[in-house]
Amino acid sequence: MTVIDARNVPADPQSHDRLRDAGYDYRVVDLSVDAEATALSRATARGFLGSEPSDAELVRMRESAATRRNIGVYEPGAEAETLPVATINSWVAPMTAPGGEIPMWAISAVTVSAMHRRRGIARNLLEGELRAAASAGVPLAGLTVSEATIYSRYGFGPAVPAARVEIDTSRSGWAGAEAPGRLEYLEREQLVDELGAVHERARSRRTGQIPGWRGRWLQMAGLGDESKKDAAVRGVRYLDAAGETRGAIAYTLEDLPDAFRSTLRIRHLAAETDEALRALWRFAVTHDLVDRVEADLRPVDDPIVHLVADQRAVRFTVHDHGWLRVLDVPAALQARRYAASADVVMQVDDALGFARGTWRVRIGADGAAEVTDSDADPDVMLGVVELSTAYAGAVPLGQLTAAGRVHGDEAAIAALGRALRVDPSPALGIWY
Ligand SMILES: CC(C)(COP(=O)(O)OP(=O)(O)OC[C@H]1O[C@@H](n2cnc3c(N)ncnc32)[C@H](O)[C@@H]1OP(=O)(O)O)[C@@H](O)C(=O)NCCC(=O)NCCS
Repeated sequence: MTVIDARNVPADPQSHDRLRDAGYDYRVVDLSVDAEATALSRATARGFLGSEPSDAELVRMRESAATRRNIGVYEPGAEAETLPVATINSWVAPMTAPGGEIPMWAISAVTVSAMHRRRGIARNLLEGELRAAASAGVPLAGLTVSEATIYSRYGFGPAVPAARVEIDTSRSGWAGAEAPGRLEYLEREQLVDELGAVHERARSRRTGQIPGWRGRWLQMAGLGDESKKDAAVRGVRYLDAAGETRGAIAYTLEDLPDAFRSTLRIRHLAAETDEALRALWRFAVTHDLVDRVEADLRPVDDPIVHLVADQRAVRFTVHDHGWLRVLDVPAALQARRYAASADVVMQVDDALGFARGTWRVRIGADGAAEVTDSDADPDVMLGVVELSTAYAGAVPLGQLTAAGRVHGDEAAIAALGRALRVDPSPALGIWY
């Protein structure tokens, strides 16, 4: 995959001009200026309702920011130490797709100051990112969201669902197969490295995954800030029979109201083999003095319901997590492989224009797609939100059709739907 460095992509001229007309300065933040870098981190923390970052956190935030393209929106004439009124950042991440990877314009740190909200600043930030991505030839954009109602207006769809898992371990029992390796406690510094290394090796197993970064693993391992909650993080790894690390888990134990019983809350569980996954689930579910285990961002086909003896002890809640936005229809569709052949003419509507058009999509027996412009009458009609939602293969096209959001010829929709499906289910194990 050709790697594009988002930091070389200039601030979008259209958003710049629009925000200038509204009285703001929209520009790429200069991280080499200490005061500007600090102001960016402080504004981002404030936007996410966080506390003031400590000096150590500022250093870590700057390290993460340095790998990204950071945009700030400023009041005109603002000093370097003045906090931007809005922030956003982006980088190009290789997203796992069936048969390989696709470059995805990852968007993060979308914040607008409470004093400047609902003036269209976020719209200019988001549209600016989409134009920047398209100008750099990146076919897909993605983000994870705190509010599920904001991003479909920009063409994003909830493409990669995740599951929140709550287990009543006082009744779940254990029915899973034995794993031949062994478990070992880790110091938190080691945990940072092992979580990152296992995630990196495992991410090609699931469509929708992207690489993590050191700042994310520091947070998962409890070294992100100096809070009491962070100090409670513990880590364990699984080594296979040959002594190789194949999985790692970061978790906390918190007292339940009833004395001497605890909740084991999984912060992150990374496993590159089924055996490692079983061993780490077993560690959590059969932990002494624990009545409850909680985890989030698990794949929707996580085997946990089949690892316990009593399925009713597991509450499994599927929710939106990874949101995708197709920018270049032929490039995005041709970047992945398909589960069945199909030959359809597809019409896509897109209020922002990027993905609008009609294409003939021919998927051969080898699972590769050929996508060409077409003047023919479409068999399948859908909006960019629906195409983006179905793209990763986690959300069935038939489900969107039943919801009245995809239209056209029943057989053509069914054929395209069969082609798009992906097994194992797509997943995204991190927030970004
Ligand atoms: C969410 C946030 C970025 C919106 O910024 P904003 O500048 O007020 O948004 P805009 O004025 O550009 O509004 C864009 C559209 O989104 C809608 N919108 C904005 N915030 C919304 C929210 N929290 N819930 C639902 N809709 C929202 C607006 O109504 C507007 O709709 P329209 O285009 O149909 O008129 C801002 O409120 C914020 O920083 N929140 C805290 C941090 C956060 O949640 N970030 C998102 C991370 S995923």
